[in-house]
Amino acid sequence: MVFGVVVNPMMLVAGGVVVFALIVFQLLVGLRKIHFKGKAHLLIHKRGAWVLLAVAGIHGFLGFVYAVGLRIG
Ligand code: HEM
Repeated sequence: MVFGVVVNPMMLVAGGVVVFALIVFQLLVGLRKIHFKGKAHLLIHKRGAWVLLAVAGIHGFLGFVYAVGLRIG
């Protein structure tokens, strides 16, 4: 439970799907299958990496909270 919200397996599945989609996006941008004009390309790739890191971190944290049965807040 995090601030009164119980983490359920569906939230973790949804989070996993989002992380997977972000990895696919990041790969496609990196491989230039999806491309943006000029400097925007590397900028989006760099920001995408930070978003991916943040979302994966939250997903991992919630997975840990669920698995261990932690209660925060
Ligand atoms: C999960 C997949 C990926 C992640 C998280 C990721 C992450 C990053 C990050 C953080 C940078 C910025 C480096 C910097 O600050 O200069 C970067 C740069 C770059 N990435 Fe990716 N990347 C991924 C996949 C790929 C793939 C599949 C390719 C191409 C095969 C690729 C090609 C590049 C290139 C060409 C740069 C620019 C390097 C430079 O000139 O600074 N990336 N990537």
